[in-house]
Amino acid sequence: MDKKVRLGIIGCGGIANNKHMPAEKRNPASEMVAFCDIIEERALKAREEYGTPDCAVYTDYRELLKDKSIDAVLVLTPNNAHCHITVDALDAGKHVLCEKPMAMNYAEAKKMLEARDRSGKILTIGYQNRFRPDALYMKRLADEGTFGDVYYAEAIAIRRRAVPTWGVFIDKEKQGGGPLIDIGTHALDLTLFMMNNYEPAYCVGKTFHKLNAQRETGNAWGDWDVEKFTAEDSAFGFVVMKNGAVIYLKSSWALNMADPKEAITTICGDKAGADMLDGLRVNTVMAGKQVMIKPDLNGGSVAFFEGAGGGNPEDLESTTFTNAILHGGKLYVTADQAAVVTRILEGIYKSEETGKPYYFD
Ligand SMILES: NC(=O)c1ccc[n+]([C@@H]2O[C@H](COP(=O)([O-])OP(=O)(O)OC[C@H]3O[C@@H](n4cnc5c(N)ncnc54)[C@H](O)[C@@H]3O)[C@@H](O)[C@H]2O)c1
Repeated sequence: MDKKVRLGIIGCGGIANNKHMPAEKRNPASEMVAFCDIIEERALKAREEYGTPDCAVYTDYRELLKDKSIDAVLVLTPNNAHCHITVDALDAGKHVLCEKPMAMNYAEAKKMLEARDRSGKILTIGYQNRFRPDALYMKRLADEGTFGDVYYAEAIAIRRRAVPTWGVFIDKEKQGGGPLIDIGTHALDLTLFMMNNYEPAYCVGKTFHKLNAQRETGNAWGDWDVEKFTAEDSAFGFVVMKNGAVIYLKSSWALNMADPKEAITTICGDKAGADMLDGLRVNTVMAGKQVMIKPDLNGGSVAFFEGAGGGNPEDLESTTFTNAILHGGKLYVTADQAAVVTRILEGIYKSEETGKPYYFD
């Protein structure tokens, strides 16, 4: 029988149950052999639903890391535990897939990169939106030079009223921030990836706490706890890259905007542009006329992706990780790229704190 990656799951909450554990169950190259959560019943429930017959349950991740038979761990805890658990796991010789955002700030992200380099193990981050058919195809067009020189982009993560009320999302101390670090991170990741530009020069940012004291909220997940909502409810940033390109980053969990859109990017180059506003739309000029091209994303558009065969984004994320571990396959989301996302988000928060532009070096 082919070797399988023996996985430990650290954090058995929402994203574990909704993304990772179902995807790993479908992945023939992995098996979930250990579960850890500080709330033991969550780990026990995960074992029941997804574990191998001999699998173990822990409430302290350091105990899980002592198991030499575990090849890799998924770090699926709140943001304030990403860095130290990832560093400890890499130092214990495990490969790591850590959820987004990589870290609460750039100093933490650098510690994670150092641990990866020290250990020689694989580190990737859970930006599954890159594996969506629209994103895969936009990236291929970008890499083929379809857009030319991309000098303007919008990273869009706007919800009208969808503040996550479970876990610790609205707690600034535990998450490092609100919608900017939670969903702005996906939109910015997609944007940098499409631009293939990871060199920020400076940014200006503003964050708002305008709606988080309201009590009749109309929120998708029910009213939030006003006392606990210490993170911003909206954040906007303007980022200037070293080559002069600019990015307008918009993020909100609650904004009086009738047409919310999330985890998408718009890029504009000197040859063509593209957005994800209605599927994928490519706009350019052909034979002297403005044209809009709408690729058929149901026509096997992911087949060109080398990391794994078709499938949904979370399956591609999972199989790309196990393929990298077992066969030396290429990662699609590198930790170095994710660290730049974290660095820019931190710059936007710092600009808000100081009331001045933030310069990256
Ligand atoms: N990729 C995505 O689109 C996406 C979507 C949602 C959440 N996330 C990310 O996933 C992470 C978790 O979010 P969630 O929605 O699952 O939150 P959650 O609160 O539902 O789950 C987190 C779990 O981690 C456990 N935990 C906390 N500290 C721990 C520790 N030290 N050791 C072991 N377990 C610990 C908690 O008890 C909880 O069960 C966050 O970083 C979030 O940003 C990513």
